[in-house]
This record gives sequence, structure tokens and C-alpha cells, in this order.
Amino acid sequence: MTESAERGHWGSRIGFLLACAGSAIGLGNIWKFPYIAGENGGGIFVLIYLVCIFAVGIPIMVCEFAIGRSTQSSPVQAFDKLSGGSTGWKAVGVLGVLAAFVLLSFYSVVAGWAMHYVYLSFTRFGGATGAGAIGELFGAVFSNPGINLFWHLAFMGMTTAIVWGGVSGGIEKASRIMMPALFLMLFILLAKALTMPGFGKAFVFVFSPDASKLTPAGVLEALGHSFFTLSLGMGAMMTYGSYMADDFDIVRSSVLISVLDTMVALLACLIMYPIIFSYGMNPQAGPGLVFKSMPIVFSQMPFGMAFSVVFFILLTFAALSSAISLLEVVTSYTIDNWGWGRHSATIIPAAVIFLFGVPSALSGSWLPATLPGGKNFFDSMDYLVSNWMMPLGGLFTALFVGFRMDVEVVKKEFASAKGLQPFFTGWFYTVKFVCPIAVTAVFLHMVGLF
Ligand code: PHE
Repeated sequence: MTESAERGHWGSRIGFLLACAGSAIGLGNIWKFPYIAGENGGGIFVLIYLVCIFAVGIPIMVCEFAIGRSTQSSPVQAFDKLSGGSTGWKAVGVLGVLAAFVLLSFYSVVAGWAMHYVYLSFTRFGGATGAGAIGELFGAVFSNPGINLFWHLAFMGMTTAIVWGGVSGGIEKASRIMMPALFLMLFILLAKALTMPGFGKAFVFVFSPDASKLTPAGVLEALGHSFFTLSLGMGAMMTYGSYMADDFDIVRSSVLISVLDTMVALLACLIMYPIIFSYGMNPQAGPGLVFKSMPIVFSQMPFGMAFSVVFFILLTFAALSSAISLLEVVTSYTIDNWGWGRHSATIIPAAVIFLFGVPSALSGSWLPATLPGGKNFFDSMDYLVSNWMMPLGGLFTALFVGFRMDVEVVKKEFASAKGLQPFFTGWFYTVKFVCPIAVTAVFLHMVGLF
């Protein structure tokens, strides 16, 4: 068997797109985006986020696909091959593997909450109905060490089982059903949200930017989140790109994946904020937002509990299709660089990731609520990966494609986008200058240098 036959390829373009959309669309869209938008002033955050997606995220996604496909390798080896064996560039690949490792450790805890809410839906949220009781319910979940550890373990177990068996058949097939189902569900819930008294206020909150609410920390968060939500800056899209056939159009694919991803994030806001405003809740409720808002509506609508079960199952699956791509980054690194077999390269890193996630799972209970710096362990890990490691990975990816990679190879990759050649120069300059300058400026501002 040739090397590429062993590594495998996507069965079809649609399979590739769904797997990438599966990686991109996850907790970042439905759990994280609404609450960080709420904390950072709503519309102004949404606006900056959209600029980041189009000016930085999409161009870098094209870079990741180009690096992955041209080398047909996992990230560390891809940087190694294309840089002619430079240790510094290999280190960028390793940074990505570390980011995947840390990210999965707390991602799994949140996915665990979604799983617990499937169970809670069967119990009709233990009889809780109003905003107050449902808010307290989340507080009780967050501060219960047993619940957090149990579901963290269960979710890591599911992720491990899929990566253990290889991704293609299972995840490609599951994505074909789950992704359209998720969209359908979101549109049904949007129809419900449209009838709520708070919809108008919610719409204004999301779409009318108030520049006075702009903060430097908000800009960093928007930039970081554009990497987080598109699965960029840590090798996931590079790895998926490495399984891609030569003729897939990497530019249109990047645009399509990003537009779908953004739509889901905005839909999530338009579903959740009407509930929040209709019930006099606070959009700054933090990481519990989705769990504190959605059950209120489910507990009051016809067939609400059935909707609730389906919603939280879909949320779990959205998280699973992202988690798989995270573990796959660590696993493929372990196989390629340490020479381990697939099974040990799956289970051992997964076990270590589980252990590393334990302090995140206990951040609401046994661990102190705040560490130096004012955040708990869970929030600190999120902050580190999302706001620093991923943008840093993205910055280096852009610099690599812009200045280090052979321009002819870059051109050949871009040429898969038939009819879009006139955009090559614009894209290339964006990658060379706009992306690095934007990311660096935000970093420098954060460390107080200007
Ligand atoms: N994009 C995923 C989400 O929004 C998270 C993720 C990041 C997945 C990086 C893979 C790689 O939930």
C-alpha cells in the first residue's frame, strides 16, 4: 500500500465539508459565542468577530488546507517537510498539539454538562420551571464534583472510542445526519424565539453595535474566538486538509465552512437572547448561559421535554464531532512522531487529557473559585488556549505560508479554486501582512506595549 492509501482520503467533497463543518461547529458556537458576546457588549463584539472571521479566519483556513494537502502529513511533519527540517517551525506544530491537548481537557467538561442535561430533560429538570429554579439547577450541576467527573469521563470515553476505530466511516456518516438535524432544530427553536416578547430587544442587542462598549480585552476575545470557532491555529484543519484530494477547491470550501459556522453562532444568539430578555435574565451569565436559558423554554412549550432531549443530544454530538478532531491531532502526532500504534496513541493521550481535565471538572467545587489572575482553573485554561495559543498558532501559520513556503506550491494549492485566481494576490497579501499585523497588534496591546 502506498503511504497516501494508508493515511486514507475523504470519500467525497461533501464528506470532507461535513467533517470540517463538524469540527468547526461545536460548543464554540452554541455554548461559548452567546455568553462571550453577552459579556462583551453584544453587537459591537459580534461586529468585530465578523471582521475577524472574514479578514483573518478564512484566509488562515485556506493556509491550513494548503499546508495539509501539499504535504499529506500531520502538522508537525508538515512544517518539518515544508521548512526543510527547521526545528523552530516544527515547534509551531508542537504548539498546536499542546493547544489541542489543553483545549480538549476542558471542552470535555462542558460537553459533559450537555450530556447531563439530556438526562435532566428526562426528569423534566427535576420539576424546575422558572428562570430562578433553572438557574439554580445549573449552579448545582457546576458545583457537584461527582456529576462533572462522571460525564467528563463518559465524554472522553466516547471520543476515544471513535478515534480508536478510525474516523472516516463513522464520523462521516454520523455528520451527514447530525449536522442537518442540528440546523433543522435551530430553525424550529428560532421560530419559537420569534414569538417571544424579548425578540426585538435581543435582535437589537446582537445587531446594533454600541461602540462605547468596545474594550481591548473584547477585541482579543473576538479574535481568539474566531480561531476557536473555526478550529484554526492548532493543526485540526491542517490534518483534515491532509486527507483531501487534489481537486477539492480549498478557497470555496473555507468560505462555505466559515459561513455555516457563523450562521450557527448567530442563530444560537437569536434563540437564546429572546429567552434571556423575556425572563429578565442577565446576558452576562457566563459559561452557564445556554444551560440556564434553554430549559426555561423547554419546560413551557408543548412537547418541550422531547425538544429538550433532542437539543442536548445534538449539542453533545456537535461537541463530539469537534472533540474527535482535537484528539485526532494528538493521536496522529503520537503515531507519526513517536511511532506508536493507533490504539495506544489514542488511549494513552486520552487518559492523560482526562486527568489534565480533572481540575477543570472540579473548578465549581473542590478547587478555589479564583486563582491568581482572578479566574478559576477552567477559565484559565480556556483563556490560555483560546486567547493566546490558537491566535499564536494562526499567526505563525500565516507567516509560514506568506514568507517561508515555496510560492509555487502555494499558487498550485490556490489554483484548485477555479475562477478565483484574480483573488490570489489579495489573499496572499492578507496572509503576509493583514493577518500577522492584526494578531500581533492585539497581542502587543494585551501585554501593554501599545
Ligand atoms: N471549533 C470548535 C468549536 O467551535 C472547537 C475546536 C477548536 C475544535 C479547535 C477543533 C479544533 O466548538
